[in-house]
Amino acid sequence: MRKVLVTGSAGFIGFHLSKLLLEEGFEVVGFDGMTDYYDITLKERRHAMLKQNPHFRSIEARLEDMDALSDLFASDKPDVIVHLAAQAGVRYSLENPRSYIESNLIGTFNVMECAREHGVDHLLMASTSSVYGANTDMPFAETQKADTQITLYAATKKANESMAHSYAHLWKMPTTMFRFFTVYGPWGRPDMALFKFVKATLNGDPIDVYNNGKMFRDFTYVEDLVRAIRLLIDTPPVQPETSEEIDEGDSLSPVAPFRVVNIGNSTKIPLMDFVDEVEKSLGIKPVINFMEMQKGDVPATYADASLLQKLTGYTPKTDVATGVKLFVNWYRDYYQK
Ligand SMILES: NC(=O)c1ccc[n+]([C@@H]2O[C@H](COP(=O)([O-])OP(=O)(O)OC[C@H]3O[C@@H](n4cnc5c(N)ncnc54)[C@H](O)[C@@H]3O)[C@@H](O)[C@H]2O)c1
Repeated sequence: MRKVLVTGSAGFIGFHLSKLLLEEGFEVVGFDGMTDYYDITLKERRHAMLKQNPHFRSIEARLEDMDALSDLFASDKPDVIVHLAAQAGVRYSLENPRSYIESNLIGTFNVMECAREHGVDHLLMASTSSVYGANTDMPFAETQKADTQITLYAATKKANESMAHSYAHLWKMPTTMFRFFTVYGPWGRPDMALFKFVKATLNGDPIDVYNNGKMFRDFTYVEDLVRAIRLLIDTPPVQPETSEEIDEGDSLSPVAPFRVVNIGNSTKIPLMDFVDEVEKSLGIKPVINFMEMQKGDVPATYADASLLQKLTGYTPKTDVATGVKLFVNWYRDYYQK
């Protein structure tokens, strides 16, 4: 049975990924520091559900705790690592930048060091569409230059990509970096727009809509996203003999078994359409508080997901009407609203 270490297993995406991998017959070791960035009860409930499966076990520790990570690698010897634990959130990086340095830079370095020391078949790590920063050439493709990050969150993720490339080159560690595009769905994060919109609307409170609603996002339904990750686990990059071997549109490095892959729906949805879906699903009209653009925010994200399709034969396809409805059903059930 192949063993996968999932960091951030009590988090939104880590929970869904662990669940899928267990269903597919993998053994999963979860690692999560249960940070208090948002309601820990949600994280405990996610872990409790995973623990019902005998092929799941978890360690609660921080990535910065190198001893805890080393012990885990020595005892569990994972074949594959999917590193999702991070200080997430674009806006919070203006309030608490240090937590991004600690979790995303030191934490990711520790994971890479353990991977190097113990050797794994494939290291996969989360980056973000935010690394495209101020780029305006859409859809965003992995082969585009991405050097204009506009928040420290994005900068730490771009740094993770560079750090990972160097380790992939030096230690011949097959490494895939994912760039996720606005992931949403059941068990989602309380700091993200959909959760806030639904919570406020059910409470009769107004919702804050930034840039006066003139925003676009490539919303990706979480079950589609983890399906793509699962398929990418079996697609480790192989370093080419020469750069001529690299197909057009492939972000494969010419000097390392390393690749960056967008995971998005390839649909640019106006934020107000998303708000309309919230209204339809709840049957309540949200009261909208139109706001200016927030510092550090970008007006649009839109993924070119053709590389993912080429590598795995798969493209996320759940539309927002379906995805928002599934989130709302979960929310009402979970919070008894
Ligand atoms: N959700 C999205 O839309 C989105 C978009 C782009 C990128 N990402 C990236 O995907 C990954 C997963 O995101 P998510 O939405 O599931 O977030 P999440 O906050 O729900 O999950 C992250 C988990 O990591 C844990 N964690 C954080 N810092 C830690 C540390 N120092 N040590 C140990 N554990 C720690 C947290 O307790 C949490 O359970 C992150 O790397 C995030 O940056 C997410």
